[in-house]
Amino acid sequence: AKTEEFVPAIPAGVFAETVTSVQHYTDRLFRFRMTRPESFRFRSGEFAMIGLMVGDKPVYRAYSIASPSWDEELEFFSIKVPDGPLTSHLQQIKVGDTVLMRKKPTGTLVLDALTPGKRLYMFSTGTGIAPFASLIRDPETYEKFDEVILTHTCREVAELQYGFDLMEEIRNHEFLSEVVGNKLRHYATVTREDFPFQGRITDLITNGKMFADLGVPHFDPAVDRGMICGSAAMLKETKALLEQAGLTEGANSKPGEFVIERAFVD
Ligand code: A2P
Repeated sequence: AKTEEFVPAIPAGVFAETVTSVQHYTDRLFRFRMTRPESFRFRSGEFAMIGLMVGDKPVYRAYSIASPSWDEELEFFSIKVPDGPLTSHLQQIKVGDTVLMRKKPTGTLVLDALTPGKRLYMFSTGTGIAPFASLIRDPETYEKFDEVILTHTCREVAELQYGFDLMEEIRNHEFLSEVVGNKLRHYATVTREDFPFQGRITDLITNGKMFADLGVPHFDPAVDRGMICGSAAMLKETKALLEQAGLTEGANSKPGEFVIERAFVD
């Protein structure tokens, strides 16, 4: 009788990488890092298709790469959906496990898709912070902009922790802390718990509280640029506010004053 365990073959033409660390933030959020193939190049802010073998079939979902393009490893920030086709399995991964990645990264939340400006806003909700985790750790962001404002809104305070950890990492990083200096600001708000800063970012823009809290003028298409990453509804409403202020949407093929991309959903 056969006794070998059935080990599904890794599909051809994809990278098979090794998990190097896993950190769980809440019962809904976790972060993991894995090895980076030497031939894999991407621009900070892009996403890739990440997958696992589920039974004998690979299951992939789009994930923003949360690490900057210079990092020798790849980092991802993920939700956990109890019956999610990928995340129900991905949330179980441990150091040493294999994660699949398709070879071609893509995405619109890249510096190349923006026209030159002075102040760059990165608006995120939930796991929408992931592409910005990459961009705030990329020196090019600070070569192109004098001021970078990362907004992150979650339902609960515990869900903001990844953002606080990123800020701490940058402050403690020998090289990045120097490049970033005091150009980066983190504006974190929650909607379903007590916290010094509360409310949806769309409401805080509309009622002017975000500008007052940060001590910056209202949006000005001459100097302000934006990147948006969140749920479909959040994208739509935040985009409308930027358009009202006179900013126009850009793309890789035609840079503009703001760009948008939907955060991972499972
Ligand atoms: P709220 O608690 O008021 O729904 P989610 O996990 O549902 O994607 O939500 C993440 C965060 O984004 C929550 O704080 C949520 O606020 C907020 N949010 C949800 N929809 C919108 C929207 N249309 N515009 C701005 N923020 C939103």
